Amino acid sequence: MSNATPSNRGPSQSRIKRGFWSSRMAFVLAATGSAVGLGNIWKFPYITGENGGGAFVLVYLLCIAAVGLPIMMAEVLIGRRGGASPINSVRAIAKRDGHNPAWRLAAGLGVLTAFLILSFYSVIGGWAVSYVGTAATGQLAGQSADAIGEIFSGLLGSPWTLLMWHTLFMGLVMLVVARGLRKGLERAVTILMPALFVLLLVVVAYSMTTGYFGQGVAFLFSPDFSKLTTEGVLVALGHAFFTLSLGMAVMIAYGSYLSKDVSIAKTSILVSLMDTGVALLAGLAIFPIVFANGLEPGAGPGLIFQTLPLAFGAMPMGSLFATLFFVLLTFAAWTSGISLLEPLVEWLEEQKGLNRMVSTIGAGGLCWLLGVASILSLNLWSDVTPLGMFAMFEGKTIFDLLDFFTASVFLPLGGLLVAIFVGWIMTRQALQDELAMGSGTFSLWYNTLRYFTPVAVLVVFVYNLV
Ligand code: TRP
Repeated sequence: MSNATPSNRGPSQSRIKRGFWSSRMAFVLAATGSAVGLGNIWKFPYITGENGGGAFVLVYLLCIAAVGLPIMMAEVLIGRRGGASPINSVRAIAKRDGHNPAWRLAAGLGVLTAFLILSFYSVIGGWAVSYVGTAATGQLAGQSADAIGEIFSGLLGSPWTLLMWHTLFMGLVMLVVARGLRKGLERAVTILMPALFVLLLVVVAYSMTTGYFGQGVAFLFSPDFSKLTTEGVLVALGHAFFTLSLGMAVMIAYGSYLSKDVSIAKTSILVSLMDTGVALLAGLAIFPIVFANGLEPGAGPGLIFQTLPLAFGAMPMGSLFATLFFVLLTFAAWTSGISLLEPLVEWLEEQKGLNRMVSTIGAGGLCWLLGVASILSLNLWSDVTPLGMFAMFEGKTIFDLLDFFTASVFLPLGGLLVAIFVGWIMTRQALQDELAMGSGTFSLWYNTLRYFTPVAVLVVFVYNLV
């Protein structure tokens, strides 16, 4: 890591030598690597399928632009201004402006949430890795729907197999995080992100040959508002957060390595565009294959692990394309997993004075251990429902609960706190300094963040709880 002195930044109080991204592009790739993940390739297509296509996509795009982008800018801004790990960045800013340093607890919530998410994200990442092997060894070729369903349920039913893949995935994440910013993260994303993009284009190109490409395009882009429900709108808003990696301190952590001369607005727009581009490309890759094979677009979470392998299994060179597809999914999940571990490691280094290796092993090891609970809830503990005495949590396993509390409660809450902290607590002057935008665009951003975003987030939040 370089040891540039943070002379050109806000109130830095870190005791460690902090590095910067080696270039603006490095930051863009890393932030995009975080944003592009299972959310884009696994979740976006299936929620689009469930919510009827075009109209949902339109609402999702609006949510990205009107809620996601302003919050992303706010998070990057906190990180750069604070120049430290998320928790200490928020504390430093609050303290300097004479506010209660307890605001750091908001960032603490984010760091904790990122850690909790990683514990089960790694389990799902493990599925992706395991499917690389399944596809490459030709096990999907020419199989019936039942046989493919059994491969999936067989995987979920075997704790040891799941543990092995989870361990491998977490190991990959830790390997990169332990190497630090430039040698680990930057190198990984400069190889993985372009590779992911190329792989995605290959699968899209294949989709074009199915003869159903037009139908896929129409499904994604011609809005039929009669298919849009209120729930669809809320799902779209929630997903805008998840897919852009917001509400959990990740963008604060990445922003803290950003040098002062980079435009926060431009880079955030670029990252949002790339994330959205990948989601749309994933849709273009998947739906033509779905239609060509007479499959159901609204098949739900199994879409890419069950429906899609079925389609791949039936096509010429299907094993090759299926392998490529799951490699791509693994890359996407990997760079997101890295970003989920980074905030805690950064904090341990800074606050506890541990070196990066030790911090990574400690945080990653603990997270791995917690992941075991998610693995077991898929099989041996599938009857264990710790909060089952409450009606709303009836039947929810540990895995379900982790997913629910992180994605539906902590994430919007974190986003709301960021909007309030930046929109109402930080000084307008500080924001103008960091953003260095024209007064018209600044006001647009500022007012959106102060008024529109909190209301929109509250609506999702409350909806998710009732
Ligand atoms: N954005 C990633 C995805 O789409 C997931 C993710 C990574 C994430 N880091 C995050 C979600 C931080 C919320 C917060 O799969």
